[in-house]
Amino acid sequence: MARVLCVGMAVVDFVFQLDPLPSAAGKLRAEDARIVGGGCAATAAVAVARLGGEAMLAARLGDDEIGAMILAELEAEGVDCRYVHRAPGGRSSFSSICVDAAGERQIVNYRGEGLAEGAGWIAEAPDPDTVLVDTRWPDGAVAALNRARALGVPGVLDAEAPIGPELLAAASHVAFSTQGLASLDDTMPPEATLARVAKRLPAWSCVTDGARGVFLADGGRVPAFTVQVADTLGAGDVWHGAFALRLAEGADEGEAIRFANAAAALKCTRFGGRAGTPRRAETEAFLKEMSPCN
Ligand SMILES: Nc1ncnc2c1ncn2[C@@H]1O[C@H](COP(=O)(O)OP(=O)(O)O)[C@@H](O)[C@H]1O
Ligand SMILES: [Mg+2]
Repeated sequence: MARVLCVGMAVVDFVFQLDPLPSAAGKLRAEDARIVGGGCAATAAVAVARLGGEAMLAARLGDDEIGAMILAELEAEGVDCRYVHRAPGGRSSFSSICVDAAGERQIVNYRGEGLAEGAGWIAEAPDPDTVLVDTRWPDGAVAALNRARALGVPGVLDAEAPIGPELLAAASHVAFSTQGLASLDDTMPPEATLARVAKRLPAWSCVTDGARGVFLADGGRVPAFTVQVADTLGAGDVWHGAFALRLAEGADEGEAIRFANAAAALKCTRFGGRAGTPRRAETEAFLKEMSPCN
């Protein structure tokens, strides 16, 4: 089984379905609501596990109730959480998220406090086939990307703003979000920015752009699958988990992107953040079904 080490954020999201999204003070009633785990790295780890990989997560939590809730859900999903550090007296991160009828979302995140310094314990995790990091815990990300480099396995950066330059230097694969890329240069459309930014990067790179799919540094594009969208929350994180898993299984980048587009599109058809992450068999079946027209 291909093993992916995911490093970064683990939170819990309180998700409300609300149309239109709140724009002023007042009292609003949600159509639906869920409490679901989130955070880029943690959601990617859930995607790896559901899609048939061995998912290890390294992250930082507090020893509070929120931390216990986050951990319990990840363990129930089959994520190996032995490298999740819980700081005594620390406060775990959580978010309030509103999703409108078109599936767009508004996120308020509390980052937590008093979490562990350093990242030494990541070295205790067994050797991964691929490393995937987000930008929210730079010490952990650099340690894991350097480990990937030393092992000669892919080190993937989910490049959302703010992006530390040391992360761009350490990754073998950088998959930007449009917001992450715009934080480097917001004067051009993402595909043009990527072409410019990629010239200065040592890594392979691409940018995910929602329903427009994925643009490659060489000017290519892998279109997204057309689906009935219910909720895009977590789509990018599922995409990164699926992409990292296929690289860990030995697929090339093109094949990994197509698989990731399929997994993320299926997630978008379901309300409830990462609770809608698909499993391997349905993702393969979807790819087969869509192949004549996409
Ligand atoms: N509306 C959508 N329809 C189909 N696929 C989507 C849609 N939104 C996102 N995706 C898929 O998920 C990937 C990641 O979404 P994106 O919105 O770019 O991530 P992020 O939320 O991290 O910015 C896209 O490249 C695409 O494959
Ligand atoms: Mg993202």
